[in-house]
Amino acid sequence: MEKVVLAYSGGLDTSVAVRWISDNYSMDVITLTADLGQAGDMEATKRRALAVGAVDARTVDAKQMFVDHFVWPSLQASAKYEDAYYLATALGRPLISWLLVDLARETGAKAVAHGSTGKGNDQVRFDVSINTLEPSLRIIAPMREWNMNRDQEIDYAKKHDIAIPITPERPYSTDANLWGRSVEAGVLEDAWVEPPEDVYEWTSNPATAPKDPEYIEVEFEQGIPISIDSQLLDGVPLIQQLHEAGCRHGIGRSDHVENRLIGIKSREIYEMPAAEILHTAHYALETITLTREQMRFKKLVSAEYARMVYDGLWFSGLHRELAAYLEINQKNVTGTVRIKLWKGTCTAVGRKSPESLYQTELATYGADDTFDHNAALGFIKLHGLSQQTQARTQIAAGRELPRISRPGKGDSVQ
Ligand code: ARG
Repeated sequence: MEKVVLAYSGGLDTSVAVRWISDNYSMDVITLTADLGQAGDMEATKRRALAVGAVDARTVDAKQMFVDHFVWPSLQASAKYEDAYYLATALGRPLISWLLVDLARETGAKAVAHGSTGKGNDQVRFDVSINTLEPSLRIIAPMREWNMNRDQEIDYAKKHDIAIPITPERPYSTDANLWGRSVEAGVLEDAWVEPPEDVYEWTSNPATAPKDPEYIEVEFEQGIPISIDSQLLDGVPLIQQLHEAGCRHGIGRSDHVENRLIGIKSREIYEMPAAEILHTAHYALETITLTREQMRFKKLVSAEYARMVYDGLWFSGLHRELAAYLEINQKNVTGTVRIKLWKGTCTAVGRKSPESLYQTELATYGADDTFDHNAALGFIKLHGLSQQTQARTQIAAGRELPRISRPGKGDSVQ
């Protein structure tokens, strides 16, 4: 029989998918569960896959690969989609696609499958990545193909003796890995409704978080975090430690109406404590190690990078080009930032670097000031020259306030 490798989470959808694929496609299903730090018992997931009919169930600890090759580059890139989302799910999909393709090659499977629906970004990320890595593979997306609602799915599970997870299913659609957690659907579909407290599974409510702040020092080398409070740590434990501190203080919650790639607006709740802390610290370090011009251009690159990741174009030439820029851009982003965590806020309160461009003798208003004040006069003269010329020649240009029109208030107000 032909084989298919299915990306398996252990939840109801992908468990039903195991049976549905064997019945509808007459294929042997091999499941692949990638551990990206989403928590959960990997051995139990494996047993469950076999119990629902998989012929083989594999698990891969991909946490370190995820951090080294996906999370850290996105941190160096300062990648944040629509100023709200550190891309946890979007970064995980190309890695899972990579692992699916690898296992398909190893087992001789002619197809791969995933549990994404037909309305989201994830189907695009999976399909585009898989098609790029191995065009000959057939892609099966049961949830995009079957016409079952949740109740029908549960009926199907009962009829086929597929155990329904005993954990109380919250009425939300969620996804998680060590970089963040997303929550959609249920009451959140009403964009006017405040998220009930039960959408947050990781972070404590800032209102009831500890009343005393906690300080953490994060050290970076070339844009990559290497230690916390002077203790050198590998990427995975470093993120886990910041995750716990962030969760205690209610850091990294966000409520955002997001523009999906396929044209839908979607209300998303995110919890991203470690990402929030590290992005805050990384940015603070860039403020002393990059020039004004570098920072301005980096912002453009960050937006492009975030979009590239969000849109599922990880295995693209554009990515290689942006990565080449970032490698040089991050060369001097080395140093330490002190972060204060307090009641949902994460603030950089100290920064230092051997590569620092912040020069106290230039910045100071004190006696040891070395800045040439006369040079400022000449600079101002030239900086304003073209604007002054314009105001003199094109009379009105320099002496009008911008006009603002307001409906029903006459033509305009000034
Ligand atoms: N909106 C986020 C994204 O597109 C999160 C998606 C979460 N996926 C899910 N299957 N619940 O990356």
